[in-house]
Amino acid sequence: MRQSSLVVVANRLPVDDNAAPDGACEWRRSPGGLASALHAILQSTPATWVGWGGGIGDAKPLPDIGSLRIRPVGLSEDELRGYYEGFANSTLWPLYHDAVEPPVFDRGWWETYRAVNRRFAEAAAEVAEPRAAVWVQDYHLQLVPAMLRELRPDLLIGFFLHVPFPPPELFMQLPRRLELLNGMLGADLVGFQRPQAAHNVAQLATKLLGAATTDDQITLGDRVVRTGAFPVSIDVAEMSALAARPDVMDHSRQLRTDLGQPKRVLLSVDRLDYTKGIEHRLTAYSELLRDGRVKVRDTVMVQVAVPSRERVESYQTLRDRIEGEVGRINGEYGRVGEPAIHYLNQPFDRADLAALYQTADVMVVTPLRDGMNLVAKEFIAARADGAGALVLSEFAGAAAELEEAFLVNPHDVDGLKATLLEAMDAQPDDLSARMAAMRAYLSRHDIVRWAREYLTTLDRSGRIAELIPHPRTPTVPVQL
Ligand code: ADP
Ligand code: F6P
Repeated sequence: MRQSSLVVVANRLPVDDNAAPDGACEWRRSPGGLASALHAILQSTPATWVGWGGGIGDAKPLPDIGSLRIRPVGLSEDELRGYYEGFANSTLWPLYHDAVEPPVFDRGWWETYRAVNRRFAEAAAEVAEPRAAVWVQDYHLQLVPAMLRELRPDLLIGFFLHVPFPPPELFMQLPRRLELLNGMLGADLVGFQRPQAAHNVAQLATKLLGAATTDDQITLGDRVVRTGAFPVSIDVAEMSALAARPDVMDHSRQLRTDLGQPKRVLLSVDRLDYTKGIEHRLTAYSELLRDGRVKVRDTVMVQVAVPSRERVESYQTLRDRIEGEVGRINGEYGRVGEPAIHYLNQPFDRADLAALYQTADVMVVTPLRDGMNLVAKEFIAARADGAGALVLSEFAGAAAELEEAFLVNPHDVDGLKATLLEAMDAQPDDLSARMAAMRAYLSRHDIVRWAREYLTTLDRSGRIAELIPHPRTPTVPVQL
């Protein structure tokens, strides 16, 4: 068994599990922040990625991708239901997102979640060389750090949560709260998107475990678990380079023509998820049309909503509601050849996303709760022209960093309508000043910096962080 000094463990692999007959495999850029972020740094890192390939049944071996080794973990149909669709995405996901959809507590799912976490821990233990660093990702694998510590006490163990960590009173609802807290605290370093999450965990550790805590460390007997905020980012260089490609710029111009050369294009790009506030923004947009503040003749909205977790009932009913509402709005306000909303329920490749971002006059990102929201950052990276407005929910982690966005509370529909109008009517010099400030920030805070900061905090010798290649320069040219 080949072993690595850096092992990343995440629910999803970035590759398809059905390699081509000649053995070649292609990167699967599955929609989702985790895959986007990790793919960007690991594609040229000597490491092993342990994860699920997306199918059902035994894991098929997958070839290395450059210097990255792939160690697939298989899931049976029952495990997919109990672990991924059940405990991870019907219990933890809604609860961690402020219970914007009621979490489901099904006692049957817990054993499956635990068994699958153990399988991931065993796979990581197998491919980690002595004293390696193992970096466990996200809520799907919250028990893995403690399991791994038991199996391999020699390892340095990191855990990073891509989603929000809820306030203690919500976490306390979880029937298995103690096991989940202890599981995560098996790590040497627990990273979050925002400092508030570390504070919430410290409060819980005091309450449930009687631990001595501060906001950056938790003492459990003779062991200290460090905690901290490490806001995740994007491959700024990749998105800037894509957006600068002549074919992408041509595509963007063509998109505008295809949309009927409107005065303004509003764009949203989300996984079709109830945390993303898609219904709230449709309500706001529909009321602007009703009030005559926006005219279909000169404004169009493009909503990309890529299917996600399609077998989970709450996602199916959300899709029905959204599609019904888009149909209603188009029926009521559209004209022949001029729909009010262009609704695209499909995946796009990175170049197509870059072209869409360039076409937008107003990028509308209105999650009710979001760990970070990488779409907002991708939009900024794609706008070397300095044009375009970002309307961003206060409840996305990105709002703490992209302060020059038009910040909004999506629950306040009147406020959302007013902010959309403000962004649509903003003067070009106001927009370019905001864009320059956000691009300058992003150019200093890209995905490589995130990974290196996390890994040097985990392993102070810097040996592990050095495995991540340095950022390609220049990243985003700053225009002031
Ligand atoms: P989440 O992790 O909740 O899905 P993020 O906004 O952080 O939310 O990340 C979404 C990622 O998925 C981004 O990198 C975005 O480019 C990608 N994505 C979103 N929609 C699509 C789509 N239709 N096709 C391909 N990728 C998409
Ligand atoms: O960012 C949160 C997250 O759950 C990631 O772990 C994942 O990449 C993304 O959302 C997409 O979800 P899924 O893997 O269920 O398609």
